[in-house]
Amino acid sequence: MAKKVLLCSIVIVLNFFSFSAAELGWWEDASLYQIYPRSFKDNDGDGVGDLKGITSKLDYLKDIGITAAWLSPIYKSPMSDFGYDISDFYDIDPLYGNLDDFDALIAKAKSIGLKIILDFVPNHSSDECIWFQKSVNRTEGYENFYVWADGRGEDPENPGKQLPPSNWTSDFGGTAWTWNDQRQQFFLHQFQPKQPDLNFRDENARATMLNVLKFWLDRGIDGFRIDAIPYFFETLNENGTYTDEPVSGETSDPNSNKYLKHLYTRDQPENVGLIAEWRQFVDNYTREHGGDERILFAEAYSPLEALDNYFGNETHPAAHFPFNFDLMYLNKDSNARDLEDKVNNWMDTIWKKHKSANWVIGNHDNPRIGDRIGKDNKDNINMVVLALPGSPVTYNGEEIGMDDVPDACSNDPCDFRDPERTPFQWDNTTSAGFSDSNKTWLPVAKDYKCNNVKIQQGQERSSLNIYKGMQKLKTTAAFKAFKEEGAWKYGALNDQVFQIIRNNTNEEYRILVNLGSDLETVGPLCNSIDTSLCFMEYKLVTKNSPHNIGDLANLTSIQLTPHEGIVLGRTTE
Ligand code: GLC
Repeated sequence: MAKKVLLCSIVIVLNFFSFSAAELGWWEDASLYQIYPRSFKDNDGDGVGDLKGITSKLDYLKDIGITAAWLSPIYKSPMSDFGYDISDFYDIDPLYGNLDDFDALIAKAKSIGLKIILDFVPNHSSDECIWFQKSVNRTEGYENFYVWADGRGEDPENPGKQLPPSNWTSDFGGTAWTWNDQRQQFFLHQFQPKQPDLNFRDENARATMLNVLKFWLDRGIDGFRIDAIPYFFETLNENGTYTDEPVSGETSDPNSNKYLKHLYTRDQPENVGLIAEWRQFVDNYTREHGGDERILFAEAYSPLEALDNYFGNETHPAAHFPFNFDLMYLNKDSNARDLEDKVNNWMDTIWKKHKSANWVIGNHDNPRIGDRIGKDNKDNINMVVLALPGSPVTYNGEEIGMDDVPDACSNDPCDFRDPERTPFQWDNTTSAGFSDSNKTWLPVAKDYKCNNVKIQQGQERSSLNIYKGMQKLKTTAAFKAFKEEGAWKYGALNDQVFQIIRNNTNEEYRILVNLGSDLETVGPLCNSIDTSLCFMEYKLVTKNSPHNIGDLANLTSIQLTPHEGIVLGRTTE
């Protein structure tokens, strides 16, 4: 049982900042959680996750403190890019269930106060989508629904074949243009050839996407994660041609997406206007239908200036926020100073201007935390993102420290992102409790018998319980008061130890993590002459900590064992 430290001296009270927590939008410090539907929970035993499976696990998300779950695409799709290639924007893929299952999911989420966000993938559809078929056939209203262009003339090396309209490369490598025999033109695809890009200069394409938003909002969702926003528009010359992009010098491989400097195909100014149009639509929707604000989060691996633009401006707001992926670039060599630099990147620019912060630390497109930053620092990183002001974004499985499964392979060739997409580890039964079947679409991690939710629920210092402990702290006044001047502080105390301080009138928390593999001593972290503020209580400790919850810490000097993470707290009443 934790001892409570009651420090009632008036001096101490005066030393704390006094805040009245400003009215916050629910999303401003929401704990967000990404569900990868194929891998979360399989209800029908076919080895692929589904909606009924997700519904059966929503209580778990509530229990671990999640505000809103965003679902990677669940729409009808040939699954060439596992749902990011949508063939029917108005229906659920049968692999995942049907619209009734979706309605049941929403009803359950509402009954427990959990918000649901859907992935909105407007940049492209599947080539199997009826809109694309119509566009190929130049059906009235669909002639320009996609980005079509004539070739640049006959390719001297391939007689009878046309040269593509520009040298642009797709994000997955290779040319971004594919010839369509029937239409006798090229179509643009910033991703796979099976993912043709919509043309948002076309009225019908724009109007159709508003219908899609409305369709899902009407089914009760709380907003959208908008996919691939940098790719919406490409610069089109007045004469209808496209300009080649210059070589970047970053790689000599002409097929790599890094080969060119994407001056005309990424982060074009029109993108912001399009998102602002959607923002106006969802804001009106909230006004007309009441209820909590419907939100738009946006996915862009773009420079900060572009991310700044994606917020829009006061008269034309665009995304509620673009995701901040900067922490994803930390690696096994990164130390506390690198972490501080990354946090500064956002706080010194975007926070200053928009008073908005969010921290993505994993997703279905990148290796898991342990594999990227180091297995010994998984809990520390979770602690940091949950302690920083704003919204943490957790990818399913990171709360129990799931690892990549290096030999996971879904196809021939394997998708390079398969290792981080393996089935969720619920317990130690068949297929980690993910599925009744022992054949799952990707293999279950070998360590699942000793690393799963059930086991971790019973271990006081498990990753899951650290995660839950941090979520609980997020509900305290000290964490809630994050928009006021002085409500938080962060920084590297030396090369390896990173500290975050959160406080309010009568509460202070210090989160300290040692990212390195040596014993570290930091301090004094208090006034060493007036030592009345030097004592705090251990509130949370990682598994390797020699301390117990309830122990007293003396801030004049704090020792952290290798990779130890701690939360110290002090309350005055
Ligand atoms: C986004 C998705 C990724 C997908 C791509 C194309 O980046 O996160 O998984 O492949 O868009 O839709």
